Amino acid sequence: MSARDRGSLRAPDRNRGADLNRAARVPQSPANPSLGEQFSAASPAHRALVPIRFFFGLTFVYAGLDKFLDPTFFNPSAPTSITAQLQAFARVSPLAFMIKPTEPLAVPIGALIALAELAIGLGALSGLAFRLAAAGGAALSFLFFLTASWATHPYYFGADLPYAFGWLTLALAGTGGLFVPAFVGRLGTDEDAAIRRHGPAGVSAPAAFRPPRELDLAPSESRRLLVQTGVLGAASVILAGLTLPVRFLRSDDAAAASAAGSAGLAASSAAPAASVAPAGVVASAVPGGPTSAPRATAAAAAAPNALTVATTAQVDQQGAVRITVPASAPSSLPAGDPALVVKLKSGGYACFDAICTHAGCRVGWDPQNDIMLCPCHGAAYDPNNHAAVLQGPAPQPLLELPIVVDKATGTITLKA
Ligand code: FES
Repeated sequence: MSARDRGSLRAPDRNRGADLNRAARVPQSPANPSLGEQFSAASPAHRALVPIRFFFGLTFVYAGLDKFLDPTFFNPSAPTSITAQLQAFARVSPLAFMIKPTEPLAVPIGALIALAELAIGLGALSGLAFRLAAAGGAALSFLFFLTASWATHPYYFGADLPYAFGWLTLALAGTGGLFVPAFVGRLGTDEDAAIRRHGPAGVSAPAAFRPPRELDLAPSESRRLLVQTGVLGAASVILAGLTLPVRFLRSDDAAAASAAGSAGLAASSAAPAASVAPAGVVASAVPGGPTSAPRATAAAAAAPNALTVATTAQVDQQGAVRITVPASAPSSLPAGDPALVVKLKSGGYACFDAICTHAGCRVGWDPQNDIMLCPCHGAAYDPNNHAAVLQGPAPQPLLELPIVVDKATGTITLKA
């Protein structure tokens, strides 16, 4: 028998052995059960968690996209920016000692939070690295509770703590195999790994060189998690990248909105503070931004009364003027806080601390409705009724600051 004949006779045996080897070490691909089959095969607990899983997933994807699409979120001078929010959190949060040093990094931190929200939401929806995504959702929600919701009393008015416990439940339960696409289920599994280790079907390494089966299986969970986390991260970055063109398209509108004071803030960007404010006035008609503080300090230094914060002419013209309570203010006043001096329907004037009593965001002025609005969660305050809450979730009125109006000079001064 020729060598060729011998080879042709042995070949079927070798291939059969390879197939057996492969069958022994490679798990069978799971069948692709229909959604109905998945649903009836899942436990009642996993079925019950489907609504919360998809609601949380969609909400986190929306929250992440919303941040990337909102040009004011990354604009440090906007009252809704991540910079303003971190500053507000630093006033009320027990994590203030950690937040303050991070304020210069507000923009990258905001981008990271938005990316994390996207990844968590996508993980919940697709089943990719599901438990890790849900644990991340729990951690992020708990962080929000300690910052954005910390000032909410009683605590059950805040949404972040329920989110944290909801995510924790999902992390503990897993998907139960429900609504997980087959390709997601296979990503990073033993099947993929075995193929990488041993080659495709029919090309088997000699037994002496094959790693034992336990080595095939041992790292599978961590490998699977790593692969799925990588895919999830890449998908989140791609999705965030897709928002860029929309963001640029909206940037002009946002710049206009920011100049006019977003969320309806009364502002006079056309009139620099120095040109409209008399000596000693620390008001800035420009919504609170990094440039307003130095102007205020310089003006205050030359002021006959450092607590003079605005003029009636400014307030009359705009309905409300944003000021900063001078750093030199006595302890009875919230030094450094943003505040609003408002023209009342009665013809008088009032001044309110502009820190929202819900979670510390900076409140703005809505000139259309003559109310003060919080851009974070929509709280509304009535200036004509001592900043009473018109609309929650703010639990109490804004702090009213005492003022003295000098009718002769038109100056408005905070009263110590
Ligand atoms: S911070 Fe939530 S409504 Fe103002």
